[in-house]
Amino acid sequence: MCGIVGYFGYRDAAPLLIEGLSKLEYRGYDSAGVAVLNDKGIDVSKCKGRLANLEARLESKPIEGHIGIGHTRWATHGEPSDVNSHPHCDCDITISVVHNGIIENYMKLREWLTSKGYEFLSETDTEVIPNLIDFYYEGNLLEAVMKSVSMMEGSYAIGVVCSKEPDKLVAVRKDSPLIVGLGEKESFIASDIPAVLNHTRDIYLLEDKEFVVLSSQGVNIFDEHGEELHKEIYKVTWNADAAEKGGYEDFMLKEIHEQPKAIKDTMTSRVISKEEISLDKITITKEYLDNVDRIYVVACGTAYHAGLVGKYAIEKLAKLQVEVDVASEFRYRDPIITDRTLIIVVSQSGETADTLAVLREGKKKGARVLAITNVVGSSVSREAHDVLYTWAGPEIAVASTKAYVTQLIAFYIVALRFAELKNTISQEELELLKEELYRLPALAQETLKHQDVLQRFAYNTYTEKDMYFLGRGMDYAVSLEGSLKLKEISYIHSDAYAGGELKHGPIALIEKGTVVIALVTQNTLLDKMVSNIKEVVTRGAKVMAITLEGNDDIEKTADSVLYLPKIHELLTPVLAVIPLQLLAYYMAKQKGCDVDKPRNLAKSVTVE
Ligand code: M6R
Repeated sequence: MCGIVGYFGYRDAAPLLIEGLSKLEYRGYDSAGVAVLNDKGIDVSKCKGRLANLEARLESKPIEGHIGIGHTRWATHGEPSDVNSHPHCDCDITISVVHNGIIENYMKLREWLTSKGYEFLSETDTEVIPNLIDFYYEGNLLEAVMKSVSMMEGSYAIGVVCSKEPDKLVAVRKDSPLIVGLGEKESFIASDIPAVLNHTRDIYLLEDKEFVVLSSQGVNIFDEHGEELHKEIYKVTWNADAAEKGGYEDFMLKEIHEQPKAIKDTMTSRVISKEEISLDKITITKEYLDNVDRIYVVACGTAYHAGLVGKYAIEKLAKLQVEVDVASEFRYRDPIITDRTLIIVVSQSGETADTLAVLREGKKKGARVLAITNVVGSSVSREAHDVLYTWAGPEIAVASTKAYVTQLIAFYIVALRFAELKNTISQEELELLKEELYRLPALAQETLKHQDVLQRFAYNTYTEKDMYFLGRGMDYAVSLEGSLKLKEISYIHSDAYAGGELKHGPIALIEKGTVVIALVTQNTLLDKMVSNIKEVVTRGAKVMAITLEGNDDIEKTADSVLYLPKIHELLTPVLAVIPLQLLAYYMAKQKGCDVDKPRNLAKSVTVE
């Protein structure tokens, strides 16, 4: 999630841009840069790393001017590096652009522009934008930006300056946030309100496809047809601290609510109706899969739980046997690895020490390593043979939420592609699963509506010392994740059991009042789960069942039932985990815990 800032006014732009960017640091970034207009043209300063690096550069080589754009980059296309940092310019440096989002058709645009003689320096999708604007530029920057965005597919918030129109800053958004700050004889653009709060509390909240021009005439906003719009000013009444969390009390809650978008972004460009599933640049072939001797999925914590669901998906769809292991166990158990072994490592951060050790050991023994990770340029992404990124955006809360659901989506994509290659799925089933995947963002949004019920449930149960999760099949894998979420942020002891295991020991723990969360989304296992619920209810447990709409009969057995929207049985984990995340969140809040920074835990475990 990159951060954008732009300034138009009478003050020195560079320090204001840096200050604005520092207020967006919470969004996560790996490089930063600014471009400022002055009588020499456009001066750009940008570099990999923290904002402090950029500040040091600007101190030794200051750039002057009163109009400028700034950017903190969270790498997507191309690793974090000076050259991939924003702003990006056209070939003759007359146009400079900062961009947040993903231009899905950038390869096609890049090829087309190359055929027209344009040259590219970076690996980014963004660099097509200034060149496209240059191509369409005929003396009117706004018009050139309008024509350019009509060619772009994907999501974007962009800020543009042009040395041929040194009295202007143009910006536009689609599916990426952008606001305008209105000051006294000065104005700002930014990805988020905190970036401008030191200077103004008067804001325009831009909608998709609204174009804004900052100039000495003031601020003008246009729709995509060039009609001028008159928007209401939004007066900010809250403080910057709250704004960083987008109005949510904690990053974890914000990230839970970002899941519909994260799911959509991760599917974007990989699952396209009527086309083959795309695994980005991964070149795994049918011949390779036919020759594979074993597939391991290896990861830690939440990523390991995603791997458990991945096993179901790959085995069911591609009919390939998969073994899942926690990285710290796998690395010391002398696993059988040959040059025909495929190891899939999963890591949000891409820096987890045990996962990285497995990757390195696997490579040494000749295995091919495919990484599913969220951080471009992370050690895992650099060292694996193949990488499939989850586009969750930076995850700040220690408890992983949106990274988990995007890891599930990545596994579905891998499983479907493998099935396609191995011809183990019919065209009808493939199309059905694609359609079901498309429904997920909206259904995840719908599932979030249960938060009030879960908050009430937490209010009534937060004093419990223990809590148990039950499930079968994929529900068991999700139960493990629900149990981990609960213990890591609320410190309530909890365990998850496969329903069939109850009689083999755990049922001894059930007594009057024990709280049990039962997941019942796998229709083929429904009757068996209902029997498990009966077994614990008979022994006095209070059961909340989570099931799919239509399974009303469960109300006869469980104390309360929470319904998820109906979806293909294979995809239910994406929805089923949401109430469990919310439950853990509200339990922790009731107990007064620091939800984003639970005790004893770190976001990235880079040591053993
Ligand atoms: O960055 P990684 O995905 O490799 O991290 C793995 C685990 O440390 C992580 O998932 C951890 O279990 C989370 N705190 C769970 O919420």
